[in-house]
Amino acid sequence: MIYKNPKGFPKNFLWGAATSAYQFEGAHLEDGKTMSIMDASIDLKYTDTSVASDHYHRFKEDIRLMNELGLKAYRFSISWPRILPMGRGKINKKGIDFYRQLVAELKDNGIEPLITIYHFDLPLCLQKEYGGWLSRKVIEDFSYYCKVLFKNFGNDVKYWFTINEQSNMFLLPHLMVFNDKIPIEKQKYSMNHIMTLAHARAIEIFREMVPNGKIGPALGISPNYPASCKPEDVEAAKIADDFNTYLFTDLYFRGCYRENVLKYMEENDIVPMIEKGDMELIGSAKPDFLGVNYYQSKAVRYARENIQNPTSSEIIPGLYKVVDNPYLDKTKWGWEIDPIGLRILLNNLNDRYHLPIIITENGIGDIETLTIDERVHDEYRINFLKKHLEQCNLAVNDGVNLFGYCIWSFMDLLSTSSGFNKRYGLVYVNRNDRDLKDLKRIKKDSFYWYKEIIDSNGKSLENLLK
Ligand code: BG6
Repeated sequence: MIYKNPKGFPKNFLWGAATSAYQFEGAHLEDGKTMSIMDASIDLKYTDTSVASDHYHRFKEDIRLMNELGLKAYRFSISWPRILPMGRGKINKKGIDFYRQLVAELKDNGIEPLITIYHFDLPLCLQKEYGGWLSRKVIEDFSYYCKVLFKNFGNDVKYWFTINEQSNMFLLPHLMVFNDKIPIEKQKYSMNHIMTLAHARAIEIFREMVPNGKIGPALGISPNYPASCKPEDVEAAKIADDFNTYLFTDLYFRGCYRENVLKYMEENDIVPMIEKGDMELIGSAKPDFLGVNYYQSKAVRYARENIQNPTSSEIIPGLYKVVDNPYLDKTKWGWEIDPIGLRILLNNLNDRYHLPIIITENGIGDIETLTIDERVHDEYRINFLKKHLEQCNLAVNDGVNLFGYCIWSFMDLLSTSSGFNKRYGLVYVNRNDRDLKDLKRIKKDSFYWYKEIIDSNGKSLENLLK
């Protein structure tokens, strides 16, 4: 539906951009920081985190660029092993100092800091000691880490995200570390339960320590369309949403497991250990909002029980399998580009949970090189962002309480799957996966475009790129 007299974006809309620590900071073993599981990941072939975009050493220059862009908000994550090199116990003062300076510099530049507590980078020592997210011991260590953050930054930072993309053990298992002696499906549901408990404890502690702050999860969501109007496919799409989205959001916002997912776990003997008090804790933790990372939608069909060797997370035999959507263009990495899917998703989430929503990530990765005159003409990115922002605006007109939008990413950084070969930034970083070059920052065309959008609070969307 298109409105005859649409309203614009809300006043004080948080026009933002995002990054994460291990993808952006570098200095992975500097000033007391120890390795995280991402620094040590052998599955991510391009992910050498030692320098990344060198933000750790250049954050002042980077924030000057954010200021020039006119950013209202900047979402970044804190590196747990930079704050607590042993995962718990002794606090690394240099780590605290770094983020203190970062927050102060952002605020001096009128930029609202949005902190993600956990973005994939568990301290490696905790992985080695007890298996990381597979052990309930991590809940206590995570709670301690949260207390340290809330004590040090709770007065200065209003918006917090607990865990980035909890769904990763299901959708991107290469980002997790599994125990090869336990069936992998069992581990995934177990880790999910433990992460939900850690998220709930973080909120419980937050309410005591940061009474004036706001906190919620940030989830990666790809909504599912039925590949046809055959009832089996429609049902398959609903089930794919249940397993890939509502499993998590119902735990966060309704405090319960979806019945059909629970039955699936029972029938497959993969129910996690749910101890006395767990569901009470999960149910009592009420987030203030939902962060949505949106890149693509999926189309699914009903999948037969007897599919041989289902290797990908995109197939659950007997339930659904992901297929091509012939109506959508794709990125070079095969991600289906679907701005309207974002509007549909925002409306579904709003109808279901009636909560404020912020887009915590949205963007497009591509292979990019500098022109001779040191420019990056990224029209495809402008086009992608423009179309998604138009749908955000329509969602606002539909009644969705959308209070912010963060582009992934503010500056080029290590893509989790493809290093610097896949760039997302509004600002180019002059390096590639083989050569660090001079790491110079160069504004892309999309930087200037987004600046106009922010300056006009979204009004210039109508006038640009016709
Ligand atoms: C999200 C993550 O899943 O997608 C980011 O929160 C990631 O960390 C982004 O970079 C894009 O994925 P990729 O694999 O293209 O880097």
